Amino acid sequence: MSRPVFTRTRTSETLTGGTRTGEYAEQLIRGRRATRAFRPDPVPEDVLRAIFSLAGAAPSNSNAQPWRVEIVGGARRDRLADALRTAHAERRVTADYPYAEDMYAPVHQERRAAFGAGLYAALGIGPDDHPARAAYDVESMGFYGAPHAAFLFVTGDGGPRLAADAGAYLQTLLLAMTAYGVASCPQGMLSFYADTVRDELRVDEGKLLVGISFGYADEDAPVNQVATGRAALESTTTFHS
Ligand SMILES: Cc1cc2nc3c(=O)[nH]c(=O)nc-3n(C[C@H](O)[C@H](O)[C@H](O)COP(=O)(O)O)c2cc1C
Repeated sequence: MSRPVFTRTRTSETLTGGTRTGEYAEQLIRGRRATRAFRPDPVPEDVLRAIFSLAGAAPSNSNAQPWRVEIVGGARRDRLADALRTAHAERRVTADYPYAEDMYAPVHQERRAAFGAGLYAALGIGPDDHPARAAYDVESMGFYGAPHAAFLFVTGDGGPRLAADAGAYLQTLLLAMTAYGVASCPQGMLSFYADTVRDELRVDEGKLLVGISFGYADEDAPVNQVATGRAALESTTTFHS
């Protein structure tokens, strides 16, 4: 089992500790990364409850908390993975949030291409090996082997304002997992099969924004060594005075 990045005691000590607060935030936030190979060990239930309880501390507009989270493990996880693979094979796409390539600006496309090149190089998949890429997409339907997955639904009208609140929840959840030594991969791809998730889990409320595969990382897997950079501060951020 992976060691938590911070134990609970150290977390509370750090948060009261002046500059150590910054160090803590640097380690926690930069210590999270998308993980795409997992060990099969389930996350103990008390840890699951602690993580999702902490994630619920996320901020939202007027504290409305317009989200609903469905978590699977065990046999239910296996059945859902099968159903998702079938829906994917049959191209039964039912996305609550439409997807279009042209939503990205050219600079976004450049960053996406750089990320994809690093990911597929780590997987040993060549740029034109479309069958291998398609096979990897199928693997993603099985949560990259993770023993658990969470599905984040936006409730209310599910519109972009409420999706922003759910985005805050998503990052809070990912950081809570990191703090407890649990690795994760948010997967927009899983949201393409919203009806399949709804049917399998008997969910009748909300729009599916994203799925999150999670569990303990397979630290030796080459795909988990992929390092992603970020745009320079000046290219995304302006300080006005
Ligand atoms: C909303 C969202 C959707 C994502 N969808 C996918 C996905 O479908 N498949 C996948 O492998 N990674 C997915 N990712 C992970 C991103 O590729 C990853 O966060 C990004 O490349 C930065 O890398 P890092 O998380 O390791 O810092 C998603 C991330 C977010 C936030």
